[in-house]
Amino acid sequence: MSTILLQESAAAAPRGVPRVRTLRLALAGCGVVGGELVRLIALHEREIAARNGVRIELTRVLVRGSGRARPDGVADRLTTDVAEFLAAAAEADVVVEAIGGTDTALRIARTALGAGRRFVTANKALLAAHGPALMRLARRHRARLDFESAVGGGIPVLRALREQLPLTGIEAVRGVLNGTTNYILTRLAAGEPYTAALADAQAKGYAEANPARDISGHDAADKLRVLAWLAFGTHPARLPVRVRGIVPHPDRLAADAAALGGVPRLVAEARRAAAGITASVEPVVVAPGSELGQVHGADNVVVVESLHNGRVRLAGPGAGGAPTASALLGDVLRAARPLRSGAASADDGVEESAPHRWLLSVPRAPQAEARLLRVLERAGLQAPPVLRAADALRVVVGPAPWTHVDLALRAAEAVGLGPVASRLEVG
Ligand code: HSE
Repeated sequence: MSTILLQESAAAAPRGVPRVRTLRLALAGCGVVGGELVRLIALHEREIAARNGVRIELTRVLVRGSGRARPDGVADRLTTDVAEFLAAAAEADVVVEAIGGTDTALRIARTALGAGRRFVTANKALLAAHGPALMRLARRHRARLDFESAVGGGIPVLRALREQLPLTGIEAVRGVLNGTTNYILTRLAAGEPYTAALADAQAKGYAEANPARDISGHDAADKLRVLAWLAFGTHPARLPVRVRGIVPHPDRLAADAAALGGVPRLVAEARRAAAGITASVEPVVVAPGSELGQVHGADNVVVVESLHNGRVRLAGPGAGGAPTASALLGDVLRAARPLRSGAASADDGVEESAPHRWLLSVPRAPQAEARLLRVLERAGLQAPPVLRAADALRVVVGPAPWTHVDLALRAAEAVGLGPVASRLEVG
């Protein structure tokens, strides 16, 4: 019996042909950022299939109104009906939120995470208000919350804070976190009028839908709250931040700084102090050659100061459709990992040239067989015949790369199947 099973399984698996799976994506918001994400996905379709083993299918695109020009290929997916979108979000593999605001965005986040989906957002205001609660919801439902694009546009600063720097003894996080105001301050320093600089920042897609959040400093404050949450574990909504923007006298800010040989920057800073975390967003006069003074236009910079790792500085494009959408796409593809086929990726290490066959077993239990088959299917493994013994269910899969089997094992662990896998050198 087991010999027949081994032969059937080996014959059923395609040798060395990576499967490209469909990743169903529901997108809320198709303006400067969401529209750019759609374009990037189309532009990189083949590369995404090759590198990540997925083909991204837009299932539904929620927009606020129907008047605006949209990228190619979304016309028949558009909806303005939030309830219809929420239904699609609960069924999608990944839900991306780039619609802004905190009401609809929060409903989408709760629906997606509550349904165990991967939720990717660019919404700093949403995170500043509800980040920890959404993270808890994600954990409770084995969902996933990613938000790299919410702070620093295309700069991968949140990934660094979430994964690389937590144990470095962070003392301070500071920087320029708003592209619109930095663009305006740069133009003012060059002698241009404020109203023209602001209009230009809006035309270039840097400013928020309501630019009052940019120029008042509140957009930077939301981002600082998110940074402080990740760096210090403080609840973002409860962190007191002294917020002063570049209004009402932006021209004077520039002139004042120039009078002292400096340049104005809107600096956000959170720092550990004896009594807790101090936090501020305010105009600061800095030397033109300093690390903040050298940040021009819509660029951002984040400096992380820590006890064990000195100063880490990350700089780059802080606003605009393409950088923000690039960061969103990075999160989407990261979320796609559990569905990825054997396509090579930088962090896979060297793929074995000859994939092996594997024997997987789980203890017999109610529903165990159906769950096991579902897990194998989702990991891109052929669902083979199951060998039912008195104490265990066994299947032979492959030849398949370890990455597939590893995914299947972790997924089986997650649903409590208690799997064991052996590499097969018999049969
Ligand atoms: N309005 C924001 C800025 C967009 O200017 O920085 C990026 O979060």
